Amino acid sequence: MTITQLIGKTTVVLACGAAFAMFGASSASAADIAKIAAECDSCHGKDGASTESSVPTIAGMSATYLSDSMKIYKKKERPCVEAKHLTGDKKGKKSDMCKEAADLSDADAKAIAKYYAGKKFVRAKQPFDAAKAKRGKSVHDSECIKCHEKGGSSPDDDAGILAGQWMSYMRDQFVAYRNGKRPQEEKMKVKMDKLSKDDEEALLHFYASQQ
Ligand code: HEC
Ligand code: HEC
Repeated sequence: MTITQLIGKTTVVLACGAAFAMFGASSASAADIAKIAAECDSCHGKDGASTESSVPTIAGMSATYLSDSMKIYKKKERPCVEAKHLTGDKKGKKSDMCKEAADLSDADAKAIAKYYAGKKFVRAKQPFDAAKAKRGKSVHDSECIKCHEKGGSSPDDDAGILAGQWMSYMRDQFVAYRNGKRPQEEKMKVKMDKLSKDDEEALLHFYASQQ
């Protein structure tokens, strides 16, 4: 065998390998996605619209925000709160986001992020104080609107969705940011650090008031 033939053969084998790897990487099939989504929905609610105040709705956020969040959980860089599966085979069993993210390949995490980005964010029906909400709107409009547009309802910011998210989950995030347990970009930290307790409470009511 000449060297050209040898190189030729190797190239064919490599090309096949690459095509196979590419196919494999993008391979989260519809059946795989349905299986993963059933796992997520068993805590996050049908189509990612949560019925539990400590569990966030994940539907309708941007795919970038969702897949970034999975990476953060995989690296255990934000708190992973234990929760119980509410439905399905694992009903009553506990898990947390660090474990959930660890179980997903990067390709599956991307695919499931895209899946939930395509679902509708359903705003939580929850009580709020109208006076606090009004004050919260003005704090939001002066400190937060730049990165959380349209009252914190736009997925295009790649910064989650604050409007209509469960207040209890949101309160936990404020605490995690304040005590440094959840990373945040420096420009947001500057804004968060200057909030008074009353500002924080007012913001929570403003986000909850959007129903
Ligand atoms: C056992 C229950 C449970 C399961 C299963 C679960 N989650 Fe979660 N998830 C939670 C809880 C509780 C939180 C909020 C507390 C925390 O950060 O740990 C959360 C938070 C999140 C967040 C952060 C939302 C935000 O606004 O920043 C994302 C994204 C997420 N989950 C996606 C998923 C995906 C995708 C799956 C399926 C692969 C999944 N979760 C499975 C309980 C669960
Ligand atoms: C410079 C841009 C910027 C500013 C200003 C900013 N944020 Fe953010 N915010 C972000 C980004 C980016 C994220 C997503 C971080 C991540 O991936 O964990 C985020 C995430 C959040 C989250 C978590 C959402 C979730 O689903 O868990 C909350 C809550 C939040 N911001 C509140 C605020 C509040 C309140 C203000 C104003 C006091 C504010 N932010 C100002 C950029 C900003």
